[in-house]
Amino acid sequence: MIDREMIATWLEVACLAPSPHNNQPWAARAAPDRMILRLDHQLLPLLGPDRVQFIALGAFIENMSFAAAVDGYRLAVDELPVVPRRTSEIMVRFRDGAKPGDNAAIMLEGAKRRRTNRGRYESILPSGATEQLQAVPCEPATSLTLISGAADRSAAADLAARAMHVLFSVPELRRDLAPFVFTSADAPRGIGMPIESVNPAASTKVPGSQWVLELASADEEAEAARARFEHAPLHFVVSSRTDTLPGWIAGGRTLQRVLVMATVLGLSHCLAAGPSEIPTLLPTLRRLVDNCEGRPLILGRLGVPSFPEQAIAAPRRPIADFLIGS
Ligand SMILES: Cc1cc2nc3c(=O)[nH]c(=O)nc-3n(C[C@H](O)[C@H](O)[C@H](O)COP(=O)(O)O)c2cc1C
Repeated sequence: MIDREMIATWLEVACLAPSPHNNQPWAARAAPDRMILRLDHQLLPLLGPDRVQFIALGAFIENMSFAAAVDGYRLAVDELPVVPRRTSEIMVRFRDGAKPGDNAAIMLEGAKRRRTNRGRYESILPSGATEQLQAVPCEPATSLTLISGAADRSAAADLAARAMHVLFSVPELRRDLAPFVFTSADAPRGIGMPIESVNPAASTKVPGSQWVLELASADEEAEAARARFEHAPLHFVVSSRTDTLPGWIAGGRTLQRVLVMATVLGLSHCLAAGPSEIPTLLPTLRRLVDNCEGRPLILGRLGVPSFPEQAIAAPRRPIADFLIGS
């Protein structure tokens, strides 16, 4: 039996999870010994498969598990249907009596501090960081590939650039992104990304949607992404053995473990979903992970940030917004 105050402290951490364009697509219903999660349909883009949305739900669950672990609870996800539906429900059960591991408090602090930094990273990694990331335990049927060789990093940078070019060249994709970028000319909001975190050189005087729809240049955004990805000392790909709902949830949990461990190690991160979501880019991403069995889910880069202040906090919806029946 878990009281609502404890659940609320777990959800405060859960909702700090990353999500596509910071849409925070989660809806939750809590019972004394479990939580039921699903996608909030109002926050889903018109285009695209829901893979990235369920990956975000996986990251949400993983963050919740960091908070629960410190309170002596372990989370277990019930078996999931293989075929995903937008309405699929994910049952997460709370089991008490789990002794917190040695680094439970450290990981929880890392989960609270984690933020995307889309700026430039230093070319050198702290010693031992790669080994510690490689040792992050992956969820069953998921894997982590670290990419440190110059040629492969260059290929990953090319993918990130091409993905950005597609995002800003396809009108429907721009329209999906537009509601999720805001400036000081917009009213305050609980979802989306501050324009400074997307492009620090962009004008803050026009609404974010206007910048996305009219002012952003596909070539410039793509070249900026290439330069920043090319410069990062370490890239990674999280893959799942199957391209299914359980694979996406488990992949999101592995992704979040990697991002939080990176934060604990003093590294920043930045993700690029396009290379795994855009069909023309996926084959190259597959080659980068040596065609390992399974489906690459997401590409990211890691490194010591050259400009830590570029990790600008993205807002979060209050718990009452996504906890149904609260
Ligand atoms: C599945 C997934 C895909 C994402 N794809 C991208 C991406 O392609 N480019 C990017 O800059 N950020 C990407 N992000 C990061 C989000 O934009 C970021 O998490 C969100 O804006 C919230 O900011 P925060 O990570 O600082 O909390 C992605 C995040 C997730 C979970």
